[in-house]
Amino acid sequence: MKKLGVAVIGTGFWGKNHARVYKELDSTELIAICDANAERAKTMAVQLGVKAYTNSTRMMKNERIEAVSVCTWSTSLAKEALKALSAGKHVLVEKPMATNTKQAKRLLAKAEENKLHFTVGFLMRFIPGVQHIREAVANKEIGELVCATAKRVSQWPERIGDVGVVKDTAIHDIDVMQFVYNTDPMAVYAKTGNMRHRKFEDYAQIMLTYEGGKSAFIESNWLTPYKTRTLTVTGSDAIMRLDYITQEVWIEAAKENRQPKYPWQEPLKLELQHFADCITKKEKPLVTGEDGFKALKIAEAALLSSEKNKAIKLM
Ligand SMILES: NC(=O)c1ccc[n+]([C@@H]2O[C@H](COP(=O)([O-])OP(=O)(O)OC[C@H]3O[C@@H](n4cnc5c(N)ncnc54)[C@H](O)[C@@H]3O)[C@@H](O)[C@H]2O)c1
Repeated sequence: MKKLGVAVIGTGFWGKNHARVYKELDSTELIAICDANAERAKTMAVQLGVKAYTNSTRMMKNERIEAVSVCTWSTSLAKEALKALSAGKHVLVEKPMATNTKQAKRLLAKAEENKLHFTVGFLMRFIPGVQHIREAVANKEIGELVCATAKRVSQWPERIGDVGVVKDTAIHDIDVMQFVYNTDPMAVYAKTGNMRHRKFEDYAQIMLTYEGGKSAFIESNWLTPYKTRTLTVTGSDAIMRLDYITQEVWIEAAKENRQPKYPWQEPLKLELQHFADCITKKEKPLVTGEDGFKALKIAEAALLSSEKNKAIKLM
């Protein structure tokens, strides 16, 4: 079977994992990597036995590269993704996809115009427990959905200096709520602030409201000295809980508690395998560009809500 030729732009903390996984997958061949930091690009390329670039424009000329992961700083994701789409490459762009929804719209249009696969790095959707919860909600296994609470807190990873906790971290949970509720929120109300970060918010509490009185609550910060990443979904008959770190799921009802067992799997591996499969089989991805756009739109509305101290209508 012919392997899909891939490349990674930005091989810092996260991009180097994309490069490693592409090397590990049977269906992909890592052709090259690109990082603006020449020393980093060279070290990574030697480790992986591929060609190094410091400028993606030159790398895009390589016709063996069919698809790329864009893992640069959040503020340069859109520019690099647009370059790749314009060069005719399929793209997986990391979250938050762009600095703002205006840039994000341009990416959707370019992918559509050039008929390319385009997806956003919301890898939580690939965790089997998250998929279990989505299905259980859809099948009303926990009765009527009432609310969901997500908590994603830890210390500030200081390398992140170009966006705040909403577009960097809470956006994962915004997308998970989109996935689990399978409908868009009507409004968002948020409180954000900064304790340590000089430029951007480092804590956020976000409330989303849905038709029929349902709601979701997201707590995110870079202040908590330990890492917690959880999701709790309350239904009229039972509660489901997920620990993103261990990937354990619990279903708790008045009469019975269950713990469906899923062996731990690397979400990034599932995500990149899916990306390659969708391109090869010409299938729609689990996370569409439109999903990325919607999550960014909600994140922007949350920031505006906090600034204006009022709920922002989304529809
Ligand atoms: N999906 C996830 O769970 C997840 C996890 C971590 C990070 N991310 C995302 O991945 C991206 C990278 O995060 P990180 O933590 O690896 O940051 P990082 O600072 O460690 O790495 C970014 C790298 O990109 C390089 N770079 C920046 N602009 C470039 C350009 N125009 N061309 C080539 N290289 C460029 C930098 O030199 C650096 O090596 C961010 O957008 C972040 O939101 C996603």
